[in-house]
Amino acid sequence: MDNRPQWGTRAGFIMAAVGSAVGLGNIWRFPAVAYENGGGAFFLPYLFAILTAGIPLLVLEFTLGHKYRGSAPLTFARLNKKTEWLGWWQVAISFVISTYYAVIIAWAMSFAYFSFGEKWGKDPGAFLFGDYLKLVEAPGQVGSIVPSVFIPLVLVWVIALGVLFKGVKKGIEAANKIFIPALVILFLVIVVRAVTLDGAAQGLDAFFKPNWSLIAEPKVWVAAYGQIFFSLSIGFAIMVTYSSYLPKKTDLTNNAFITAFANSGFELLAGIGVFAALGFMAQQQGVGVSEVVTGGVGLAFVVFPQIISEFPAFNGLLGSIFFICLVLAGLTSLISIIETYVAGIQDKFKVSRNKAVAIGGGISAVISILFATQGGLYFLDAADYFINQFGIVVAGFAEVVIVAWVLREMKVLQQHADSMSDMLLGAWWKICLGVITPFVLGYMMIQNFINNLKENYEGYPTSFLLYTGWGVALAAIVVGFVFAAFKWQKGSLDLPSAD
Ligand code: PHE
Ligand code: NA
Repeated sequence: MDNRPQWGTRAGFIMAAVGSAVGLGNIWRFPAVAYENGGGAFFLPYLFAILTAGIPLLVLEFTLGHKYRGSAPLTFARLNKKTEWLGWWQVAISFVISTYYAVIIAWAMSFAYFSFGEKWGKDPGAFLFGDYLKLVEAPGQVGSIVPSVFIPLVLVWVIALGVLFKGVKKGIEAANKIFIPALVILFLVIVVRAVTLDGAAQGLDAFFKPNWSLIAEPKVWVAAYGQIFFSLSIGFAIMVTYSSYLPKKTDLTNNAFITAFANSGFELLAGIGVFAALGFMAQQQGVGVSEVVTGGVGLAFVVFPQIISEFPAFNGLLGSIFFICLVLAGLTSLISIIETYVAGIQDKFKVSRNKAVAIGGGISAVISILFATQGGLYFLDAADYFINQFGIVVAGFAEVVIVAWVLREMKVLQQHADSMSDMLLGAWWKICLGVITPFVLGYMMIQNFINNLKENYEGYPTSFLLYTGWGVALAAIVVGFVFAAFKWQKGSLDLPSAD
């Protein structure tokens, strides 16, 4: 008997997987990455990365979780007793991400409220760093807790953990079934408004104009792969965990294609919306579009407030809708990240879901307060950069090398996926995961090491980067081995028989 919780419907699972994939990265990362790496020409490496790495890896993670029916630690332990650490490592990476991701959602909540009355005034940059975040002068200082960040942060945790307490079907699935359609509708409102603004065409032109001269540069291809790994939430234990709740019969391959294309569709939509809005702003300021392009925190919390203030009408409402989109996109991703360690704790230590949510979520909520202090932004920035560069890329590399090269499991997994999918995986899948993906990830990994050893990220002091960046990335692996060292209760590693 298998008493693992299950999704209510296939659509529910897809909604949750898409909810995890569609996050802040779609809205503030993709448009800038595409623009900087060739605009319209970027779609070639991007599509290539989806077909050779994104979808194959998604199929792999769906198949692993489905076949071994466990959280990432349990799945990798069942795959082979010696690889459990890999599951915990990915869980630890997700744990770190959850602590600061929650804080960004809290900012977006504040800004949804600030939009009414354009609380950021004439200088949104000064408002964000000064009035709102009360940022300290130098990285490494902590300062005191900032109440205006702390209060929405509490709300974020209450919502996320509230959903998780309710379980897989009544909590995660139900929340995604509301949040994702709401996100799509609200985001469409923003996009339609953006493309009908003066100057929108100029922005779209800049976004789609192909710059083929970059196409031969390795960095463009690395950017495409990097975007895809991050964007599809691969290598974080998330997709393994979510697919462990699938019913016995389900089309895994098809699920992966749907998830990947839904995520890319949202990225494209965001690119259109963001660049239309940037074109409008460039025209208002009488400058070229290239002068106003940014991504990340600056785009969402400095440039967008500027744009919103220049809207001809309904500024407060439209601004609020934009930030609510960030909140919804972020929350559904946050929920998926937290579920990785909730599931891991439950599987290994045989505690109830409620206990796992309370302990895992509680600890990460407490740690997240560090990022709600006056020094929080610097810690957040360093942790985010390092956990991504040395988390996903290295853990993803380890995953494919272990599964394809060390354990040689591709054939067995392929049979599992093919046995219930309309589309057969064929040689394409094995070649992508056995050859292309490890080489691309290996190359990215080496480049990352060289670049970060040569130059300190953002010019931050070495000591600061040692404990916030390198230290955190290394700690995630160590935690992986420590948790793998605990003993499983008798019978835990047996695969539940088919029901
Ligand atoms: N896939 C999410 C995005 O595109 C990011 C994310 C990363 C979500 C890690 C969960 C975990 O924004
Ligand atoms: Na994404």
